[in-house]
Amino acid sequence: MKSNYLEQLNEAQREAVLQSEGPVMIIAGAGSGKTRVLTYRIAHLLEKGIDAFHILSLTFTNKAAREMRDRIERIAGNEAKNLWMGTFHAVFAKVLRIESEKLGFPSNFTIYDTDDSKSLLKDIIREQGLDDKIYKPDVVLNRISAAKNNFVFLERVSG
Ligand SMILES: Nc1ncnc2c1ncn2[C@@H]1O[C@H](COP(=O)(O)OP(=O)(O)OP(=O)(O)O)[C@@H](O)[C@H]1O
Ligand SMILES: [Mg+2]
Repeated sequence: MKSNYLEQLNEAQREAVLQSEGPVMIIAGAGSGKTRVLTYRIAHLLEKGIDAFHILSLTFTNKAAREMRDRIERIAGNEAKNLWMGTFHAVFAKVLRIESEKLGFPSNFTIYDTDDSKSLLKDIIREQGLDDKIYKPDVVLNRISAAKNNFVFLERVSG
């Protein structure tokens, strides 16, 4: 860990970084040093001995996550590799993969996007010999989605 990292912060930034207990909200203008606060705060938590596996850092883009991890690694070293850091989608896909057994899925499950789902549905509708004017893929997709949102699982539909 670089020992002088707190000197690379202005007064307001340092206050936010040192406030390691409880919630902190950072609101500041574009390019004013918000990301620096977040990265140094995480580096500071690591230095205080917090287990990297207990720190969750969510970003909107992969680019931002990569940039944060790189910056933290530069201050805190290798331990930064163990951080839970990524986009909402990437982090929770990882959680699902680790916990997949509890859901009855294999850990190598694939997540379909809307295009994948629609093209699979079209195949199924064709294979089942159904009229795709009546069983429109979009409509079927919405029905499946609504069922999932209401926790209506396959056993209840077919059983
Ligand atoms: N206290 C500081 N002293 C010197 N340079 C700083 C300081 N704080 C931030 N910087 C530098 O200023 C630039 C912008 O900082 P940073 O990326 O943290 O800002 P931001 O508020 O997250 O920006 P954005 O709104 O684009 O997300 C970076 O190059 C950063 O290294
Ligand atoms: Mg930023």
